[in-house]
Amino acid sequence: MNLKNDFPWLVKNKYIYFDNGATTLKPNCVIDAIKKYYVDYGTNVHNLDSKFCYQTFKAIQNARQTIASIFNAQAKNVVFCSGATEGLSLIAHGLAHVLPKNSEVLLNDFEHASNLIPWQHETKSKHFKLKFAKLQSKKIEDSIFNAISSKTKVVSIALTSNVYGNMVDYKTLVTKIRKKWKDIVIIADAAQYIPYKNVDTKCGIDFVVCSAHKMLGPTGIGAVYVANKWLNILPPLRFGGGMNEVISHSSFTYAHEFEKFEGGSLPSAQILGWQAAIKYLNKVGREKIYQHGLELKKYFVKRAKEIKNLIIFNPNTPLSIILINYKKVHSQDFANWLGSKGFIVRAGLSCAKLSKHPLKVDNFVRVSLYLYNTKQEIDKFINTVKKFKHGDELSTII
Ligand SMILES: Cc1ncc(COP(=O)(O)O)c(C=O)c1O
Repeated sequence: MNLKNDFPWLVKNKYIYFDNGATTLKPNCVIDAIKKYYVDYGTNVHNLDSKFCYQTFKAIQNARQTIASIFNAQAKNVVFCSGATEGLSLIAHGLAHVLPKNSEVLLNDFEHASNLIPWQHETKSKHFKLKFAKLQSKKIEDSIFNAISSKTKVVSIALTSNVYGNMVDYKTLVTKIRKKWKDIVIIADAAQYIPYKNVDTKCGIDFVVCSAHKMLGPTGIGAVYVANKWLNILPPLRFGGGMNEVISHSSFTYAHEFEKFEGGSLPSAQILGWQAAIKYLNKVGREKIYQHGLELKKYFVKRAKEIKNLIIFNPNTPLSIILINYKKVHSQDFANWLGSKGFIVRAGLSCAKLSKHPLKVDNFVRVSLYLYNTKQEIDKFINTVKKFKHGDELSTII
């Protein structure tokens, strides 16, 4: 795939961008869609008092439908929020009010902080506990299913871990859970999954969250898919204009469907930018992008074997996220050195701090690839690392 010219950052900066798990670069069409909003529409979406407001209203309505398509859902089930973090905070906060005493929320050690801390925070004032599925088998789905007990009321998992690069076969898992436990709430953190594949919520998922910036869209926008049954039950997180219907001195009533959760002015430019990103990804082909990533990962792993000091922690997972370390060099120092040679990577535990338990390492360098990365870039990376000598990292510590 030769798409570099679509990405002004890549044209301008002569760096190799291997940090797509953190955020992705934006194609021209996304930047153009944001500009179009400010130049052509410019108005708030809640107000239908002029032709400009109406245009914005129609554009956002249309974008909501495009975004619903990545969940195979209807537009009314799409709640805009600032990203996966706010989405998971909304769900954890809302469910904490309805969870029975002594119930359990099931997570696992690969969860991102945004699917851990909101739950931990709620356990301080509510009477439920967290339980962590241990990786007992190669299949994460089996570990999760086997950890469910009669106390489990919520299963909240990342469909793809931002460090391990696994892919949960969520349809099989959800079907298995639903056969035995109809009422368990199933939450999918699709922040790293949806850049590659849509999530088919029809299989019985209650909530899905994602962030636009991980899939070529703008920062500051994401969405929660909220299943019909929760639209009424779940309380909102943001209170104010737009989310109410009737207000008196002492009370108010909620607006309906997604509006109830979208208090305040919507980030219209970001929503329209996100729509453009989805259209771009669909045009290139999501499956093609996924296969491209897989091929790059296999190539990276094969070439990395040429360097005896390079350790790879997840050579066989199916997503183009690769965790490495250089023997006897701290990951932060190695990442700085790579940065000085023109490669942008991420060091540490990438916000999945409990992953140090299953991975048995407390820091690593994450290389995360996406549609604009190439085998030539991997060759450059490997050839550069081949020249690395212990001690070189000391020259580049910031
Ligand atoms: C798996 C996963 N979940 C949630 C998040 C949080 O996303 P955001 O920071 O866009 O809210 C991330 C971000 O890296 C992630 O990788």
